[in-house]
Amino acid sequence: MRLFYTNSTKHLAKRIKIPKGKFILDRFSDGEIYVRINEDVKDRRVTVLASTPDSESILELMFLLDALQRAKAKIHLLMPYFGYARQDRLIQEGECFSSRRICTWLNQYDLKSVDILHMHSERIKRYLDYRQLIPLELFAPIIERNDIIVAPDKGALDFVKKAGKRYRKDIGCFEKMRPVKEKAKIIRIDADVKGRKVIIFDDMITTGGTILAVSRELKKRGAKEINVLATHGIFTGDSIKRLERSAIKNIYVTNSLPQTSRNIKLINIAQYLEKRMRSI
Ligand code: R5P
Repeated sequence: MRLFYTNSTKHLAKRIKIPKGKFILDRFSDGEIYVRINEDVKDRRVTVLASTPDSESILELMFLLDALQRAKAKIHLLMPYFGYARQDRLIQEGECFSSRRICTWLNQYDLKSVDILHMHSERIKRYLDYRQLIPLELFAPIIERNDIIVAPDKGALDFVKKAGKRYRKDIGCFEKMRPVKEKAKIIRIDADVKGRKVIIFDDMITTGGTILAVSRELKKRGAKEINVLATHGIFTGDSIKRLERSAIKNIYVTNSLPQTSRNIKLINIAQYLEKRMRSI
């Protein structure tokens, strides 16, 4: 097996002890991407490790898959972070269906398997055949230190229920709406948190608006300690500063995307991903 990866996952690839494939992923002076496979991968099993947090990373992935397919490799794709997953349905007339379009592009390749770490929406299963990975075993020590797991919205309820069952913890649920793009408003709360250590469990933190709104309500309701666990830390704008000023004690995210803030506690998923790659 050989490991190929894009720039989005360099930080993980260097921690994974699977032989790296020989390839070039470079830029021309105008920024165009150049990919070349420099070894014979014909009929060989290769794993492509790639996330798609931005447009450049999507192109890098598509070109790497193209080069490997032309070289007739047997390609397994593992995505620590699948971007555009929040655009998983059409809300207003005239919109682009972004997540579906990305799935269509991926479906053009002969992928032997696709694994995705904590995909934002299971709805995307309609457009892409993939296996969902949620590393609950890595989250165990964090979850176990708390009394109750809270889903910050309905979308999180399914995996919060699974975690609650596995770790025998009570669960609570919030319901939110977005009055305008990227703003969160809590509209319903079902969580008994008075005097308890609470962990809010979500798939991702982007602007931080959701967990800030939820943590304010938890504080009002007398939670003793508020912690947050999210698989993906996007942290746009000044979100980290706003989170630092909040009532939240600890924020844990995985390194599915590279993290720089020292105030965010990191869960390393490299070995978890390596184990998965070896088992495919
Ligand atoms: C649901 O929308 C997601 O699971 C997250 O709750 C959301 O993406 C977090 O976004 P933000 O941090 O901008 O509120």
